[in-house]
Amino acid sequence: MTHKKSILSRRSFIATTGAAMAGGLMLNPLSVTSRPALLKKMRIAIVGTGDRALGMWSKDVAETYGDKVEFVGLCDINPGRVAFFKSATGFTCPTYTDFEKMMKETKPDTLIVTTVDATHSEFIIKGMEMGANIITEKPMTTDEEKCEAIIQAEKRTGKKVTVTFNYRYSPHRARVYELLRAGEIGEVTSVDFHWYLDTRHGADYFRRWHRLKEKGGTLWVHKATHHFDLLNWWIESDPVEVYATGMLEFYGKHGPFRHTHCRPCPHKDKCKFYYDITRNKRHMDLYVANEKYDNYHRDGCVFREDVNIYDKMAATIKYANGVHVSYSLTTYSPYEGYRIAFNGTKGRIDMWIEESNPVEERNYDEIMITRNFGTREFIRVPHGTSGHGGGDRILKDSIFKGITEDPLNQAAGVRDGALSILVGIAARKSCETGQPIKIADLTSIKPEVKRQFVARG
Ligand SMILES: NC(=O)c1ccc[n+]([C@@H]2O[C@H](COP(=O)([O-])OP(=O)(O)OC[C@H]3O[C@@H](n4cnc5c(N)ncnc54)[C@H](O)[C@@H]3O)[C@@H](O)[C@H]2O)c1
Repeated sequence: MTHKKSILSRRSFIATTGAAMAGGLMLNPLSVTSRPALLKKMRIAIVGTGDRALGMWSKDVAETYGDKVEFVGLCDINPGRVAFFKSATGFTCPTYTDFEKMMKETKPDTLIVTTVDATHSEFIIKGMEMGANIITEKPMTTDEEKCEAIIQAEKRTGKKVTVTFNYRYSPHRARVYELLRAGEIGEVTSVDFHWYLDTRHGADYFRRWHRLKEKGGTLWVHKATHHFDLLNWWIESDPVEVYATGMLEFYGKHGPFRHTHCRPCPHKDKCKFYYDITRNKRHMDLYVANEKYDNYHRDGCVFREDVNIYDKMAATIKYANGVHVSYSLTTYSPYEGYRIAFNGTKGRIDMWIEESNPVEERNYDEIMITRNFGTREFIRVPHGTSGHGGGDRILKDSIFKGITEDPLNQAAGVRDGALSILVGIAARKSCETGQPIKIADLTSIKPEVKRQFVARG
């Protein structure tokens, strides 16, 4: 994309999320303000005290929202990791390796689920049955049977599941949502969406549990759930059919040599993917110090024979409103980022991000609008300051500060969590069968032309 030729924006853009606060009033079911006893603190328990819980859902939450929340219990299958989590956060609540015992003894009203993907459904369902609303990390779960079980459990228990789709909250992506709603390019008819994971971050999926389909559902589910959720949200319609292809041809058994993990590896001097975990204190504390409990190697070899996920993927997705999407995911790119274009009846919106090795460092992202037979305009969106383009902070504010407005429809519940993974599950099935897969055949959710918004109350 050549920036030099660009005609800079006529609009001086103020981060979307500020403007976004002026919308319809809705109550967040998880928020403290929607509780009967206004001053009662949210009683939070966490299951899965690994990297994500530590970085996103622990100390920062306790410090920033301390008047509204309290942590009452921590649980992980790995006793060493949960003990480390407690000492690293300074939390004083009890720790457990038995989930049901934690739920019975600490009686949380909110359970944060940050375990390995394929185990989410177990804790989401039991958590609701034992009286808690759920905040779950993406992907909500990894197959259609577990997805249906969550849908039914939410109905049965009357509890609420919030899926933390932080990508929706980045100011850049929120701005595109506004432009599409404002009809800047007329009716959207198709979308080109290409995501590039680089040889650092992309490779990391092949080092960890994510390399196994039975743990993460393949990157169609584990990673692309973010992308499919963005598409569902931007397009404001439900996906109906997916045709996909995928291959494993770079990592796993295709590597030139292999070992179990990097530390004892005899090939470390010549391997481009050698990861010296001893230089990463956080990983040493979280994982290496606790290998004795689960034999899990955070510096696993990317060329292990057991890798059973795809490393390049492409899909065609049809939406109920007629929009067609061309999507691809690559896992060994020299730079990390994405390109997306919305083609409409009156023009086109392009956006692109380079998250690693950017050509130039800048504190904004751009959106390009090109109108048919007309002008080209560039809109600059300042970066947010927290993780994921500023999205993580806004997401946490919306949950813990009890923000009751959601004008950009960024809150996500079970239906959104389901429809994003169902695109990935359908894509995975399509790769396995060679057939297009209908979303309606997977669960009780029937796709609708106009997407249903989750009400925050
Ligand atoms: N939204 C995002 O941007 C984002 C970013 C990173 C991770 N995540 C999600 O967060 C979740 C956790 O990822 P992570 O990177 O922290 O992984 P991790 O491996 O660091 O942590 C997972 C933890 O779950 C524990 N665990 C596994 N099975 C368990 C069980 N049956 N009972 C109790 N504990 C169990 C493990 O011991 C580990 O401590 C994943 O679902 C991942 O998709 C989301």
